[in-house]
Amino acid sequence: MMYHETTGAGEFPAALTESVNSLADTTLNEPKLETRDLHLWYGNFHALIGVSLAIQPRAITAIIGPSGCGKSTLVRVFNRMNDSIRGVRISGDVLLDGHSIYGGRIDLRQLRKRVGMVFQRPNPFPLSVYENVAYGPRIHGLSRGDLDERVEKALAQTGLWDALKDRLETSALSLPPEQQQRICISRLLAVEPEVLLMDEPTSALDPIATARIEELLIGLKKSYTIVIVTHNMQQAARISDITVFMLLGELVEAGETQTIFTLQSDPRTEQYISGRFG
Ligand SMILES: Nc1ncnc2c1ncn2[C@@H]1O[C@H](COP(=O)(O)OP(=O)(O)OP(=O)(O)O)[C@@H](O)[C@H]1O
Ligand SMILES: [Mg+2]
Repeated sequence: MMYHETTGAGEFPAALTESVNSLADTTLNEPKLETRDLHLWYGNFHALIGVSLAIQPRAITAIIGPSGCGKSTLVRVFNRMNDSIRGVRISGDVLLDGHSIYGGRIDLRQLRKRVGMVFQRPNPFPLSVYENVAYGPRIHGLSRGDLDERVEKALAQTGLWDALKDRLETSALSLPPEQQQRICISRLLAVEPEVLLMDEPTSALDPIATARIEELLIGLKKSYTIVIVTHNMQQAARISDITVFMLLGELVEAGETQTIFTLQSDPRTEQYISGRFG
């Protein structure tokens, strides 16, 4: 069973408010997502320890850190994907546009429409290209004509429309991995989300496909808030605006990517980035 204790905004410690504000000041934006003193336990295991983080809209935030430090757990918190795991318990709060997503009456389907997820292994449904992309909007009640338009737009956004417009009935599973991952991103975009969560979305792809997906993400950040987990520090350096370094469930450092990769304020970040562990 899930158990939440939420702290109201009024109880937010002053020091944290300051650090959140200073990050926000650099871009003059209200954070799109925020965690406040977030703790998560899998049974007795304390997997996230007091994570306070503000995520900027229309930017790419990369989460880096060694295996098992809690990167996937953290991104899954943003659309409550951990809810279904037995024995998970959370304290603290997570906010989307300033509103708690762990409050009482959250519509999970609506939350996951706004905050969508792309996984490590491309996982299209065993359906045609068209049906993969139409799946979400159809559930949300779009009519056939609007659906066609929505599918075309979502495939165009990921650069697939020209290649696949005459093969919309092809099984998505018959496509190469990069196109499958683009289908998964199109499937997400088709429900018009605000946040794209990506858990190592290129780790199953070759370097050329990876570079092309990275280019796609840089284009998408004009319209979406993107949070990407990556094992690949070069990838974080290449595409992200903000980098978050985690270690053993704690957020060690978060800041502008250029700064994190050149002027780390925590020696553990420097050691990780220079490849001394992880
Ligand atoms: N369902 C679960 N039940 C119990 N422990 C879990 C569960 N999922 C993750 N953990 C533990 O929580 C910690 C954080 O896991 P998580 O998957 O978030 O790490 P990660 O940083 O994404 O690692 P990786 O880089 O290997 O993907 C790990 O110690 C992991 O073993
Ligand atoms: Mg992971």
